[in-house]
Amino acid sequence: MKKIITLVLMATIATTALTGCSSSGSKADSGDKKVTIGTTIYKFDDTFMTGVRNSITSQASTDNVTADIVDSQNSTSTQNDKIDLFITKKVSALAINPVDPKASSTIISKAKSANIPIVFFNRVPSESDMNSWDKLYYVGAKPEQSGTIQGKIMAEYWKAHPEADKNHDGVIDYVMLTGEPGNSDAIARTKYSIDELTTQGIKSNQLATDTGMWDRVKAQDKMQSFLTSKGDQIEAVFANNDDMALGAIEALKAAGYFTGGKYIPVVGVDATAPGVKAIEDGTMLGTVLNDAKNQGIATLKIAEVVGKGETPSKDNTGYDIVDGKYVWIDYKKITKDNISDAK
Ligand code: GAL
Repeated sequence: MKKIITLVLMATIATTALTGCSSSGSKADSGDKKVTIGTTIYKFDDTFMTGVRNSITSQASTDNVTADIVDSQNSTSTQNDKIDLFITKKVSALAINPVDPKASSTIISKAKSANIPIVFFNRVPSESDMNSWDKLYYVGAKPEQSGTIQGKIMAEYWKAHPEADKNHDGVIDYVMLTGEPGNSDAIARTKYSIDELTTQGIKSNQLATDTGMWDRVKAQDKMQSFLTSKGDQIEAVFANNDDMALGAIEALKAAGYFTGGKYIPVVGVDATAPGVKAIEDGTMLGTVLNDAKNQGIATLKIAEVVGKGETPSKDNTGYDIVDGKYVWIDYKKITKDNISDAK
């Protein structure tokens, strides 16, 4: 009898030890597994997104997580293929800068079936897409804010410089270089920059507009055409981003601007390094800081937290999470008066 009891006891101890071992083993497995974030950028060849990408990479190394970052080459099908690959590799979370945010539902359903949370960034999917699953997040800036700030910079200059009104008709005759057609940043910056002039009681007239596709060389080309067709009628240049503002400045330089007192106000958005340099040089009037660094950090932090199966909060990410899913990073006005804020 004593022998039987001893045997039963031994068996019980062994089972407990085994169970304990296996459960702590699986815990250790998931705890030790390095968090991997499958990250896709709409295209690597974009100055501002390169800033966001660099910020993601540097935060990943600080946090000791893996950010596997791939180039979608501005193609939805390339992006979808890369996402399929990430899902096959069972990444902990996806961080997606969509090529076309209107096509987000396809990405969402793939991720949902694999139960992999997504942090979208820089290009926001529709509200209904964002509400279609509780593991979707977004990091970005409110595009209308950047347009309004551009309008403020231009209005301030116009009011302080009566000579800017070359034909003395009390109306800003401007040209507008826009980003990709349909892009929400491009649409809002185009609209809200001019709305702000109107709010401030300044009349305006659009002489010409065209898309420079966020690109410096393309914008330089478009500005050359504007100069050919409108020449000295142009009193101001709005560009939806700094790269296009810099392209416009190149074309203006070639037409004799920025020397011998020949000036035209040009405003951009992003506060990229060359953009800030142009403000210092006196060729760009002002820009709007699009905070690549914080957008990158917030994206990485949220992806990391959700990749571990936790709920993101201010405590574990450092950012306010609005409505449980949005992080809004503020834009900031940059002119030569506060240039150090952009550096
Ligand atoms: C904007 C940025 C542009 C371009 C664009 C891509 O936020 O200002 O320069 O990067 O995103 O969608």
